[in-house]
Amino acid sequence: MRTIAIYNTKGGVGKTTTAVNLSYLAAHSGLRILLWDLDPQAASTFAFRIRPHVSGFAKRSLENGDALRAAIKQTDYDNLCLLPADFAYHKLDRWLSSLGNPGRLLTSLLAKIGPDFDIVILDCPAGFSRLTEAILAAADAIVAPTIPNLLSLRMLALLVGQAERSRSRSSLVAVFNMVDRRKALHRRACELAVAQAEIFLPVEIPYASAVEQIAARRMPTPVFAPHAPAARAFAEIWAELETRLSRDGDTRAEPQWASVRRGLETLIERLDSTERPLSVPDIASAANDDAGVDVVHRFDSERRDLEHCGYALELRERAGGEFIVVARSDAEGRAEARIDRSWTIQILAGVLSPLEALERRIGPPPPDAVEHIRAALNGQRLRRVRTCQPETPASVGADAGALGL
Ligand SMILES: Nc1ncnc2c1ncn2[C@@H]1O[C@H](COP(=O)(O)OP(=O)(O)OP(=O)(O)O)[C@@H](O)[C@H]1O
Ligand SMILES: [Mg+2]
Repeated sequence: MRTIAIYNTKGGVGKTTTAVNLSYLAAHSGLRILLWDLDPQAASTFAFRIRPHVSGFAKRSLENGDALRAAIKQTDYDNLCLLPADFAYHKLDRWLSSLGNPGRLLTSLLAKIGPDFDIVILDCPAGFSRLTEAILAAADAIVAPTIPNLLSLRMLALLVGQAERSRSRSSLVAVFNMVDRRKALHRRACELAVAQAEIFLPVEIPYASAVEQIAARRMPTPVFAPHAPAARAFAEIWAELETRLSRDGDTRAEPQWASVRRGLETLIERLDSTERPLSVPDIASAANDDAGVDVVHRFDSERRDLEHCGYALELRERAGGEFIVVARSDAEGRAEARIDRSWTIQILAGVLSPLEALERRIGPPPPDAVEHIRAALNGQRLRRVRTCQPETPASVGADAGALGL
């Protein structure tokens, strides 16, 4: 039994779509497939017309696997079973934390639910969590659907970084999804990916209504639109994966993560330079009109993860008041809030996180930009990395106290 996780820390990139279509195609080729919908949103469970419920699912189910094994359902298609999502999967992360080693736990669960199948495919929820750790430890292969833009690629780079740090033995391939060849950025990303064949499968999934309709029709694309270009793309992806899985056999050598990361960074740099008007150095001016700003304090993790993701998190002091601003160079993700002097002092003294201050001021739900920053930080501490005056960009002070998030 092999495990393929369809995973990317970025939301809405096509994980469920890919999981549904690849599960169907793999089963259609004669393999016995189990699709495990790990996302409490239950999108792939709905796509296969199954009720999202695991009877008796509780913390102990993660230790003995009984409730999960009993919940496996046959779908409308030969060779294809589904382990449904359950609303209680919301607690999965907390339970994984409290039960010890998440990787070992998921590996032993898969051994319990998987023996009747050739392949278990995991439809994973977005985000960095203990489940990330578990997936990186337990999956034989990770397929990462990725939109050909800078934010998606940067999120993919974070995942690769995490795989490298955890010395994951999973292989990872990315596949571009929602490709719109009318967009110069998409064309350029696909061209650049050719040089990174180690990471990117040589197939693109186009932006297509035949993919979008999965939710409405509640069936995989190849069933209702077998000749659509998107269905053909998924068939090519499955053929490529099958070849790679049989080539790799049962050996799980540690992938060359450092070289994968460098390849990805090169691609991102080149794409970023194509998009220079939208790139990181412009964030300060995009983040706000510098007029009237006396001092700007920038915060980042020690590894500068926010900068790598194209985000800036700043405390901007001006005569009329102080502001926390989160901005991305292309203004796609931006949030700001005014804070009072006492919070400014606490932030600069290192006792209040600027991100927490921003969240408290804005109130729930947190804006996308804040969620992206949390994902990029992945629990790391924020520290003040630069203090300068907009007119004199040279650094005045650096590395003031670290802030726990
Ligand atoms: N190639 C495509 N063409 C058109 N629409 C697409 C394509 N791929 C995905 N979509 C649509 O984009 C949305 C997000 O896709 P999907 O649910 O598969 O992403 P996801 O990564 O699983 O999201 P989440 O992180 O919320 O689980 C859905 O509405 C889906 O129909
Ligand atoms: Mg999904």
